[in-house]
Amino acid sequence: MKRSMLASTIALLSGALISQAAVAANQEPIQPITPAKVTNPALVELGKKLYFDPRLSKSGFISCNSCHNLSMGGTDNIKTSIGHNWQEGPINAPTVLNSSLNLAQFWDGRAADLKAQAGGPIANPGEMAFTHTLAINVLQSIPAYVGEFKKAFGSETVDIEKVTKAIAAFEETLVTPNSRFDKWLKGDKKALSKNELAGYQLFKDSGCVACHNGPAVGGNSFQKMGVVEAYKASSPAEGRSAVTGKDADRFNFKVPTLRNVEMTYPYFHDGAANTLKEAVDTMGRLQLGKKFSDDENAKIVAFLKTLTGDQPNFKMPILPPSADATPRPTP
Ligand code: HEM
Ligand code: HEM
Repeated sequence: MKRSMLASTIALLSGALISQAAVAANQEPIQPITPAKVTNPALVELGKKLYFDPRLSKSGFISCNSCHNLSMGGTDNIKTSIGHNWQEGPINAPTVLNSSLNLAQFWDGRAADLKAQAGGPIANPGEMAFTHTLAINVLQSIPAYVGEFKKAFGSETVDIEKVTKAIAAFEETLVTPNSRFDKWLKGDKKALSKNELAGYQLFKDSGCVACHNGPAVGGNSFQKMGVVEAYKASSPAEGRSAVTGKDADRFNFKVPTLRNVEMTYPYFHDGAANTLKEAVDTMGRLQLGKKFSDDENAKIVAFLKTLTGDQPNFKMPILPPSADATPRPTP
């Protein structure tokens, strides 16, 4: 009891500190998303193809887009992802949208950046279940791909370094500027309704901004899930302690971005909350010791829905066909 009160005081204080600092600097705790600048279009184009190519998986059936579907907010909208041979994964797939803004990748931050992350799923037996060597063999056997690697990198060699670099370059373009909230931040005072603004005020005053702040409205710290009240997770994952080995980091997870959160259900690392209403209620109680009324909850949800920005908008990539010599998928 004593511990949970202390935790709640800390959470509230840090919320107050953020708000005060922001107020002092006459700044909002959330900043608009900046559109991506593409410096090497050939690299991004190659990365886009690789992102959509199921031939990077053992079965020839699973691509990055299977679990991070860019038509659905960069997620799969299921509790935990389905990987190779219908294996159900242990954890919810976070969105790839705005993932370049994260301080590290994965719920526990075990990958430093997008390039380090991108090699993981290809060789993960529960996801794409391939090996890097076999994936490279496939790509090397397809002349049009070899040509694209040459265009992007200036040399024809294909290796996993280049594959992950290209995928990361594509992912860096997956930012979602121009949400209604961003328009409001930039001075269009008509962009939000009174109800949505009241939700934003509650989001600030209640202390949500202590953890969900910055351009991604999250993604920039690891925090305990269950500050005031313990969270009964349906996933065995223990978060950041898997990386640091420290007991104090148990159940600390990367604070997820709330950009496009309307599209990225279900919520939390175990995907246990189906609706925003439920997620907001849980956050209020567990992180802040606050029970929102239905009206307050609805206002916060209305605000969260204004964080949906421009979704990726590009011509669907057409993948170069396999050559006669291309290794075929195996079950
Ligand atoms: C996490 C990209 C394939 C399921 C992530 C993250 C990124 C990403 C950037 C970290 C996001 C964050 O922490 O905020 C990719 C790319 C893929 C790929 C580029 C293709 C090479 C897949 C596939 C599945 C999947 C095929 C499902 C079978 C997941 C899950 C997580 C995750 C469950 C969370 C894992 C954890 O935090 O421990 N992915 N992904 N991904 N992805 Fe993927
Ligand atoms: C997750 C909203 C306060 C840390 C989430 C999610 C939502 C949300 C909607 C789910 C996002 C997703 O899974 O994609 C709110 C609201 C808050 C609030 C409305 C105020 C009532 C806080 C505070 C902290 C925090 C104060 C830090 C002490 C986290 C963490 C997660 C999370 C760590 C991920 C938890 C997990 O998946 O196990 N928040 N949040 N949040 N939030 Fe908050």
